[in-house]
Amino acid sequence: MIGLEKAEKTASKRFYIESYGCQMNFSDSEIIASILSAEGFDATRDAEHADLVLLNTCSIREKAEQTIRQRLTEFKRIKRERPGMLVGVLGCMAERLKGKLLEEERLVDLVVGPDAYRTLPDLITEAETGTKAVNVLLSREETYADISPVRLDSNGVTAFVSIMRGCNNMCAFCVVPFTRGRERSRDDQSIVNECSELVERGFKEVTLLGQNVDSYYWVDPVSGHAVDFAMLLEKVALISPTLRVRFSTSHPKDITDRVLHTMAMYPNICKYIHLPVQSGSNRILQLMNRTYTREWYIAKVKRINEILPDCAISADIIAGFCTENEEDHLDTLNIMRESDYAYSYMFMYSERPGTLAAKRYTDDVTPEIKKRRLAEIVALQNQLSLDSNQRDVGKVFEVLIEGDSKRSAQQWMGRNSQNKVMVFDKSKDGVKPGDYVQVKATACTQGTLIGSIVE
Ligand code: 5AD
Ligand code: SF4
Repeated sequence: MIGLEKAEKTASKRFYIESYGCQMNFSDSEIIASILSAEGFDATRDAEHADLVLLNTCSIREKAEQTIRQRLTEFKRIKRERPGMLVGVLGCMAERLKGKLLEEERLVDLVVGPDAYRTLPDLITEAETGTKAVNVLLSREETYADISPVRLDSNGVTAFVSIMRGCNNMCAFCVVPFTRGRERSRDDQSIVNECSELVERGFKEVTLLGQNVDSYYWVDPVSGHAVDFAMLLEKVALISPTLRVRFSTSHPKDITDRVLHTMAMYPNICKYIHLPVQSGSNRILQLMNRTYTREWYIAKVKRINEILPDCAISADIIAGFCTENEEDHLDTLNIMRESDYAYSYMFMYSERPGTLAAKRYTDDVTPEIKKRRLAEIVALQNQLSLDSNQRDVGKVFEVLIEGDSKRSAQQWMGRNSQNKVMVFDKSKDGVKPGDYVQVKATACTQGTLIGSIVE
């Protein structure tokens, strides 16, 4: 009865949520949507008509926070017209700034950290009475394992499944261990159940998400049976041979041969690894506290190529970390060539308050030098990506169709196992999103393989 009363009370309420930053944040927004719909809230795509506007925020670089502040000022205008509307800041920026955010951004009513989403309904009730509501407690256990995410903006084909939260690595530049707390893994059975349900609903691809998936480790409290990432990967791959399995992010220090062999054993585990390098210089890697050397990293790449000859690798790279000199920078360019990345995510170093780097080192590379080095890194990556795509022209790939291509409703867009985007004409009847087709690459750009369906 209580549930019903609550649903009636709030039946007409609408929430609007905007997500920033990593895939984990987008996945969290689906958990938040689930918590709110259980309270009778409906999702809306229109902030102007929402009773509750939520921003799921990112703190990874200063620019990410600036974008969110900008967005908050835009909501100020809506709020002026509709004073009853509540505005909530969730996620990493909420966790980093805590109550300070309420002083800095007076229009914000709710501040909720990544481990406190279960308390959102109570916090909303509190905010409705005019009291600002904050919960930024981090947890050692919370994995939201029992919450079935509401898929937002879904194409009905691909979905993210979070397998762990937090991070125990202390990379010197990174704010994540402070905003997302200690690492904890989610019960393997709840992961398998969530993936199985997705398959039943027609989904064809899951991406298992964690800051560092290779340190996934779950011990069943009753049987004492332990499951590591290689075992989890196998369990998910076995759900259905037509379910593609991807994962992100791997850490070069932790990815094991067992994971690579499991990938080799199951054709439905995609041959693609995101393996952030950050820098190619041993001196910088040490300052960054990445706990591997360039030689170790190159050996890992070699091992991947040996065990999985058709595997694509991508990376994250930071330009201009503290004390980085030209020689260090050349080492980075050099490791990019050696690793032959299919693509990369490339950033200028941005000092984050509270991190080890902010405490110990000086952010001494000038913005101009950072910019120039980043431009060189991007130019090299563009060339590597183009070379990699050109090598694929003439080859036939199995592609999972995700939907219409961005440019034309006469063309499909999908990805191959290596995570490369392929675009091709809708030349075959009866084919729809969620289908697998064989596509021959006939041309390419640096970002896309262009092809046609072959029988
Ligand atoms: N400055 C620039 N890039 C950063 N990253 C993390 N912290 C920072 C920072 N302070 C990058 C890393 C990481 C990716 C998610 O973001 O490359 O792998
Ligand atoms: Fe940040 Fe390093 Fe953890 Fe990734 S592994 S989230 S870069 S601390």
